[in-house]
Amino acid sequence: MKLLSVSNEEELSRIAAEILFAKIKSAKKLVLGLATGKTPLGMYRYLSKYSKESNQTFRHIHTVNLDEYVGSITYHEYMEENLFQHIDIPKDQTHIPDGEAENLTEECRRYEQLIKEIGGIDLQVLGIGENGHIGFNEPGTSFDARTHVVELTESTLKANAKYFVDSEQPKQAITMGIGTILESREILLLAIGERKANAVKELFKGSLNKDIPATALINHPHVTVLADKGARKLLDKES
Ligand code: F6R
Repeated sequence: MKLLSVSNEEELSRIAAEILFAKIKSAKKLVLGLATGKTPLGMYRYLSKYSKESNQTFRHIHTVNLDEYVGSITYHEYMEENLFQHIDIPKDQTHIPDGEAENLTEECRRYEQLIKEIGGIDLQVLGIGENGHIGFNEPGTSFDARTHVVELTESTLKANAKYFVDSEQPKQAITMGIGTILESREILLLAIGERKANAVKELFKGSLNKDIPATALINHPHVTVLADKGARKLLDKES
């Protein structure tokens, strides 16, 4: 696991966008795994800017998002607003779990199958929860879980309550499983701010710990952690 140290959110957002944009430019076809939440917002802003300022097309890109709330289109709207409407990606090449599906078990199966059919994920972008979750894989989740429905923890509900001021916050979500995430060929984990410092510290301890889902990544051969000063605060030494 490689640590890329940056000073702040702005620098992190720019560098993350540059990493993605370089791949978008050089690949003939690319499957990007995407995250929502506060962390990647700046990265999407830069990507939208790079797209606007260049002639670079996104028509050869397929995206698969990590998760969506059950009974909700919150993250569909987020992706449209923050990225998809700013780039020329064909809508049918953007994929997000359908939280409104009648049969959620079937939807999880469909999503797994879809990821296989488009050739697997080349680069998965992850944020990290204060409790160490990745996607919505909460502490205790099996490291070989596939896409599944989860009951969100109090910590996660609290952290995300701000997205639901006008509506009731769903207590469940569909998420790619840790096993699904680990099959990505490359992973870029973004961590911003002191609230993530404990999770980042646990990640760099180097031992698997089911209570900190992100530690599953330590066995993956190609993970880069991009962390700002706040998120690195509890690391003993920087590598
Ligand atoms: C979102 C996701 C979550 C977030 C995590 C951090 O798609 O998968 O794991 O990455 O909850 O959220 P923020 O970035 O809002 O701190």
